[in-house]
Amino acid sequence: MKNYIDTSDFSKEELLDIANLGILIKANIKAGYPLNVLYHKTLGMIFEQSSTRTRVSFETAMTQLGGHAQYLAPGQIQLGGHETYYDTAKVLSRLVDILMARVQKHESIVNLGKYCDIPVINGMSDYNHPTQEMGDLTTMLEHLPEGKRIEDCKVVFVGDCTQVCASLMMIVTKIGGHFVHFGPQGYQLNEHFQEIARKNCEISGGTFEVTDNEECLVGADFIYTDVWYGLYEAELSEEERKGIFYPKYQVDMEMMNKAGANCKFMHCLPATRGEEVTDEVMDCDRSIIFDEAENRLTAMRALLVYFMGKKDETIKICKKNLGI
Ligand code: CP
Repeated sequence: MKNYIDTSDFSKEELLDIANLGILIKANIKAGYPLNVLYHKTLGMIFEQSSTRTRVSFETAMTQLGGHAQYLAPGQIQLGGHETYYDTAKVLSRLVDILMARVQKHESIVNLGKYCDIPVINGMSDYNHPTQEMGDLTTMLEHLPEGKRIEDCKVVFVGDCTQVCASLMMIVTKIGGHFVHFGPQGYQLNEHFQEIARKNCEISGGTFEVTDNEECLVGADFIYTDVWYGLYEAELSEEERKGIFYPKYQVDMEMMNKAGANCKFMHCLPATRGEEVTDEVMDCDRSIIFDEAENRLTAMRALLVYFMGKKDETIKICKKNLGI
């Protein structure tokens, strides 16, 4: 597969391979060994929306791997004016080595992937957020409850069915874990996503559930939430979102305790503190949100290496450096 647009295009083994590659590169970098496997390579980064974590982690990853990243902001490139995605894709294929894009419409990233002659990575669309997924898989692997495999874990996503909720479902069910979306009717994962979950579980042995019954929280290993804003043109006002989600779907200490003493808290960030999650949960010792944010970088390094065809070379260098 040339592009990383949707994790449904990949097997469980391939996804775990990328996550484990990221963990190995992270160990190499933390130990202070240089890793210039993308020397003189350039990443083009199209952002149709703002970003902190995705932009900074891609740019830092390219620097750490010996390459360079170019930020192509709205209003500063011709895309969005009269130039088409096709022409932009063909031109950038001649000018950079790999492209990532955060787009408004999923169709745009699919088209970029189709028209580009270089690898294309989806930095989030209105459908999914697969680089977040890879970072989240990495974070869960690093924070596995004692004695459990990733396949044994129960992951409960609380609140609105955002792209992050859909993406978390896709990766958890793909790897054979147990996924629950706890959200109000009308804001739950739709039939399209439930069909993906069913198919994934048939192959992986995982389970999934969509419910508004808070008993689903009991025994969760990870509770995850995201903002309540709704998607783009369907954005909700503060009054609307509080009417729909508050207080039942706000992650507070009572919810964490209902899940169990060892349950960890995750959030893709940025969070609206005091809305979908309390400060107390964000800052408690069971919160792993900043490890999760750091693992966006872990995931980006792995994705760049993997899709630039440098996996085997990188593993060899890292293992030699680390003496493993
Ligand atoms: N989680 C996430 O994608 O963050 P940014 O919007 O800051 O990139």
